[in-house]
Amino acid sequence: MLVLGIYGSPRPRGNTDLLLDAFLEGASSSHPEVRRLYVRNMRIHGCIECGKCDETGVCVQQDDMAGVYPLLEAASRIVIASPIFFYGVTAQLKLLIDRSQALYMKREIARREGGDASPDPSRRGFLLSAGATGGKRMFECAILTAKYFFDALGMTYAGELCYPRIEHKGDIGQHPTALDDCLRTGKSFTGG
Ligand SMILES: Cc1cc2nc3c(=O)[nH]c(=O)nc-3n(C[C@H](O)[C@H](O)[C@H](O)COP(=O)(O)O)c2cc1C
Repeated sequence: MLVLGIYGSPRPRGNTDLLLDAFLEGASSSHPEVRRLYVRNMRIHGCIECGKCDETGVCVQQDDMAGVYPLLEAASRIVIASPIFFYGVTAQLKLLIDRSQALYMKREIARREGGDASPDPSRRGFLLSAGATGGKRMFECAILTAKYFFDALGMTYAGELCYPRIEHKGDIGQHPTALDDCLRTGKSFTGG
């Protein structure tokens, strides 16, 4: 089993990094292969909406996404972690998400040609998030984005752990349950 953790924050060792570290530590208890992607260190261009992937299922752009696509297709579990920036995921993570359109189109082309492109219930995605404020709707946009990202990949959305009122670097460490929640949920996420 391949478990892919995608770190969406520009801040190294920030709150969502710590959430995902704990989640992947829990996930590791069943000894899957674990890969970590730090979008802050990657060169990923925005989708240019050229429409080429509509015909081929392949993106024409040459950047670090070339190494990401095979991981997105091979992973049985994907966890994305992002702070809330202006009510959504970070721009860095959104670039990767938008570029997954090529994989959506690849499945769509397979479906049109009579192949099985139905979502695979054994492949599951999860969202981790934190934000500084405490509004009732603060995670709604990130959750919807995550749901449709996993849907585009043919995966099932398994849920989220989101923490309001977490602002400064490392604040999540003072939360009474967050890191334990992630450890525990990460473990069950991989069946460990
Ligand atoms: C550019 C920017 C935009 C932000 N927008 C929001 C927001 O809309 N709502 C919110 O609750 N917090 C917002 N925050 C605060 C972060 O979500 C918060 O500090 C979070 O804990 C950072 O997580 P990290 O350490 O993983 O990067 C914003 C922070 C920055 C730098």
